[in-house]
Amino acid sequence: MGYSRQTRRNRALSSVSTLLLCFLLCISEPSNAQSSPVFACDITGNPSLAGFGFCNTELKAEDRVTDLVGRLTLEEKIGFLGSRANGVSRLGIPPYNWWSEALHGVSDVGHGTNFSGQVPGATSFPQVILTAASFNVSLFEAIGKVVSTEARAMYNVGLAGLTFWSPNVNIFRDPRWGRGQETPGEDPTLTSKYAVAYVKGLQDTEGEDPNRLKVAACCKHYTAYDVDNWQNVQRYTFDAVVNQQDMDDTFQPPFKSCVVDGNVASVMCSYNKVNGKPTCADPDLLSGVIRGQWKLNGYIVSDCDSVDVMYTSQHYTKTPEEAVAKSLLAGLDLNCDHFTGQHAMEAVKAGLVNETAIDKAISNNFATLLRLGFFDGDPKNKPYGDLGPKDVCTVENQELAREAARQGIVLLKNSAASLPLSSSAIKTLAVIGPNANATTTMIGNYHGIPCKYTTPLQGLAETISSRYEPGCSNVACAEADLDSAMALAASSDAVVLVMGENLSIEQESLDRVDLFLPGKQQELLTQVAKVAKGPVVLVIMSGGGFDITFAKNDDKITSILWVGYPGEAGGLAIADVIFGRHNPSGQLPMTWYPQSYVEKVPMTNMNMRPDESTGYPGRTYRFYAGETVYAFGDGISYTQFTHRLIKAPGLVSLRLDQSHPCRSSECQSVDSIGPHCENAVKGRSDFEVHLNVRNAGDREGSHTVFLFTTPPAIHRSPIKHLLGFEKVRLGKNEEAVVRFKVDVCQDLSVVDEIGKRKIALGQHLLHVGSLKHTLNIRV
Ligand SMILES: *[C@@H]1O[C@H](CO)[C@@H](O)[C@H](O)[C@H]1NC(C)=O
Ligand SMILES: *[C@@H]1O[C@H](CO)[C@@H](O)[C@H](O)[C@H]1NC(C)=O
Ligand SMILES: *[C@@H]1O[C@H](CO)[C@@H](O)[C@H](O)[C@H]1NC(C)=O
Ligand SMILES: *[C@@H]1O[C@H](CO)[C@@H](O)[C@H](O)[C@H]1NC(C)=O
Ligand SMILES: *[C@@H]1O[C@H](CO)[C@@H](O)[C@H](O)[C@H]1NC(C)=O
Repeated sequence: MGYSRQTRRNRALSSVSTLLLCFLLCISEPSNAQSSPVFACDITGNPSLAGFGFCNTELKAEDRVTDLVGRLTLEEKIGFLGSRANGVSRLGIPPYNWWSEALHGVSDVGHGTNFSGQVPGATSFPQVILTAASFNVSLFEAIGKVVSTEARAMYNVGLAGLTFWSPNVNIFRDPRWGRGQETPGEDPTLTSKYAVAYVKGLQDTEGEDPNRLKVAACCKHYTAYDVDNWQNVQRYTFDAVVNQQDMDDTFQPPFKSCVVDGNVASVMCSYNKVNGKPTCADPDLLSGVIRGQWKLNGYIVSDCDSVDVMYTSQHYTKTPEEAVAKSLLAGLDLNCDHFTGQHAMEAVKAGLVNETAIDKAISNNFATLLRLGFFDGDPKNKPYGDLGPKDVCTVENQELAREAARQGIVLLKNSAASLPLSSSAIKTLAVIGPNANATTTMIGNYHGIPCKYTTPLQGLAETISSRYEPGCSNVACAEADLDSAMALAASSDAVVLVMGENLSIEQESLDRVDLFLPGKQQELLTQVAKVAKGPVVLVIMSGGGFDITFAKNDDKITSILWVGYPGEAGGLAIADVIFGRHNPSGQLPMTWYPQSYVEKVPMTNMNMRPDESTGYPGRTYRFYAGETVYAFGDGISYTQFTHRLIKAPGLVSLRLDQSHPCRSSECQSVDSIGPHCENAVKGRSDFEVHLNVRNAGDREGSHTVFLFTTPPAIHRSPIKHLLGFEKVRLGKNEEAVVRFKVDVCQDLSVVDEIGKRKIALGQHLLHVGSLKHTLNIRV
């Protein structure tokens, strides 16, 4: 029945004949014509609902959930196991679509959210990889807050749900990964901080009951998921072979932070298997870790449709019923799509799973909807009830999209200070390249419909009279129109080339094959640079990094900017940076490897650490010591910043118990739990690092201070590890003190070979830029 399409007027009436009338009216309406939100317990419209405990806002949440579950037949319960939940009209519960997305703006991927004449678009922020490059935690949260406001506004007019399956917190482990663009990069610390801040921005009701949710976020894809489709290896059948050490210090930390520190309302398990088991059927990963150790307050959802995949593609189970039962018993609460809904009844009849397990799953789902106010009746006079189309694509929201893009943009090369371009010295600008007038390319994947686009060409032309040559007809650049591009460059004072890729080269279900600029882009660049009279600025629009060694070494290419997929306001932000209205402060959240790296490393090798015996070089700045094109954290400014250490201890003594074995014999490391760590909590071995940061140049700018540590080389520990980062904005000649609080047991410990956290004894090196400080930890 088309309940979700009913109008408010129709919902108020409840006789069979009016329902029939509605049915006829509703099917004649276009599917997105609904204009009121979907919610249960509409007591005003249907006073008989007032008697139901689950509609009684005075009762405790658990009791409301228990009441609701108690009223449902088994068949009705099964209807709540799938993402397109059926609803139960006799209880005033409408159908609900759980699947909405909000990776970097409200998206219409999934069917829970649509755009319409009433809300034709929503603010489209930069793709996450660029936002992450800002290393600005308050920006991450500010974006989440705007996105959840626009989401609520769309919910209020019936265009969106309340459950959003974002963010993606998988580690960007291999430069070829097509979905690397969706993530905050390769570093667990940055990814964890991003997850916590973005989830807070989405979920936080600010001062209201902390158990309430503005919208429900979801950290995905749990876990060790980062191969989509590489040389015919498909995510649906890939078995990620992961050792315990990598699991616990690379793949799991972002999920742990998201649940433990971010209080996320949901985790999505992935398609792939980990060590032979599909993640959505692994009781240790789901019930054991997420719910048991991390204490998820919310629901676990499958990827779409990984329960089906388990049976159909992985042949992990002999029957569909077995796949459904195994995943429910492992701790899955909700199945994206309808496979579980289709086969759960047979699974129960066959005795593979009982009603108790189903009750547990739907209780988690209901509890989440309850926190969102779904069972509280009409949201109109409730918090967020006044949000509507006027709150979407506001001037402020669109300005934040521009601000986010310019905070993320990374300046990689700037010889002879060719940037910023001076609009008094440069009279004519050549804008060249297949992404120079990009629109949809700027918003990457998991996008919605943006409020509007400002292309790079439009952004640049606002400041300086610009002429345009695409150079190639698209990013694949099979043929380059060298003559026109060179002629334009030769007759202009400066050249901006906007190159890179789009979703036809990297995206979901599509990993890259190499790290070269596509097709003839390199030739176009080199030839244009050769004939240019003035500065040549290479702008790279992409999710992943490239081997652009040729451009780095080409003296005629004077500046290089990486702009990610910069979102709807990308062209404005690029112009802000190029003309110096914004001083760039973005830094790479991932390593840019040379092409030779991907030639020797199969994408399917999940090991993070190098292996001397096979020549395997390891992955990410934490373990890969080989040559890079650009390194994690690279990014320069139009000004210079200097660091000076003010305070850091040279020695930390752990106070072990009298009975601790390491008091009497030599130990390389001690466990990072135990009385000596509880003492640390009380401050005995916590310490602070204070740094003076000075803007030594002549313009204002922001700067991220990275505090890295290098532990002693035991337990195959990382070469270096990002302990923390802090972004500061400083005027010219201004200085500030940046303080890091270091918890020895948490921040200086490493994960050992069997996944246990240990504090390595001996010399630890702290580094901030070129500054190094030795810290001795002993017992
Ligand atoms: C969005 O559109 C799809 C396809 O037309 C429809 O099935 C779905 O119910 C709509 N969802 C909302 C929330 O309007
Ligand atoms: C349902 O199944 C679970 C797990 O197999 C079991 O622990 C529980 O006792 C069963 N409950 C009932 C009522 O049979
Ligand atoms: C650039 O793109 C915009 C938006 O799609 C379009 O209106 C404009 O005509 C394009 N400019 C050129 C010179 O092709
Ligand atoms: C992306 O590039 C391909 C060629 O590689 C082109 O066919 C496609 O139209 C481009 N997509 C967009 C959105 O520009
Ligand atoms: C971080 O982002 C916020 C939100 O845009 C901004 O107000 C702040 O100035 C930024 N911080 C720095 C140090 O640039």
